[in-house]
Amino acid sequence: MALLELRGISKTFTGRGRTVHAVRGVDLDLDSASTVALVGESGSGKSTLGRIVAGLHRASGGTATFGGADLLGAWDRERRRSVQMVFQHPFQSLDPRWPVDRILREPLARLSGLRGSAADRRVDELLDQVGLPTAMRGRLPAELSGGQQQRVAIARALAPRPDLVVLDEPTSGLDQSVRGRVVDLLRELQQETQAAYLFITHDISVVRRIADQVVVMHHGEVAERGPRTAVLDHPQDDYTRTLLAAVPVADPRRRARALPRHEETR
Ligand SMILES: Nc1ncnc2c1ncn2[C@@H]1O[C@H](COP(=O)(O)OP(=O)(O)O)[C@@H](O)[C@H]1O
Ligand SMILES: [Mg+2]
Repeated sequence: MALLELRGISKTFTGRGRTVHAVRGVDLDLDSASTVALVGESGSGKSTLGRIVAGLHRASGGTATFGGADLLGAWDRERRRSVQMVFQHPFQSLDPRWPVDRILREPLARLSGLRGSAADRRVDELLDQVGLPTAMRGRLPAELSGGQQQRVAIARALAPRPDLVVLDEPTSGLDQSVRGRVVDLLRELQQETQAAYLFITHDISVVRRIADQVVVMHHGEVAERGPRTAVLDHPQDDYTRTLLAAVPVADPRRRARALPRHEETR
């Protein structure tokens, strides 16, 4: 049995005379210490599904289990501890009035019951894990770079030792130059913590670096799924092919190889 099992999950938004079927009958399995990348164009329902898994939206239909227990009912403290989320815009997700130290102590106190010197040690450990110097404890989010802010948001998510982390476009708001390093950091942290990642992204180069499995969403449904290399290198579905073709090749060596022969020799 997988750590997370979604079956027939759907979500309908209604309001102002409009009905949006954001997610329609999605099945998904995610194992401990592994990563499912959720890809698809804007509006395909990725964030809605991620928010359902993180307990921020109520599903309209379907069933979900986490560690064998129902995920869609009420969340107790243990569930709130074990499922964490990282958002696209770290600055918006961090309280601007709180220094880093307080941002990290808050979930430790609320979800892990850690206070005083035990929390102090854990804050040092978390900063070290995400590659930030201890001296940053006193900084406010506005005094950090975008990459450092996202490292703090990642540390905050990992603080209560979650079993599952939902990451919604965690690198999309960052400069190209720091993206790769944050993805590598997330990979290392997964090795250390054995947490499962539901990793939402539209960046195929990120999918290549981090995903074990890929789930392609289109209009709220799963268009294709499978191991990373199968989906990226041998897509079976027309929509997946279109999605992959739309992605610019960022690596100049690969771009050169992708050029027709006569262009290369020009
Ligand atoms: N809170 C909401 N109220 C109404 N419609 C929403 C809400 N959140 C998302 N939607 C709609 O649901 C669809 C899927 O959105 P979303 O899950 O954000 O897609 P993605 O993350 O893949 O871009 C879109 O049509 C979007 O407009
Ligand atoms: Mg989204």
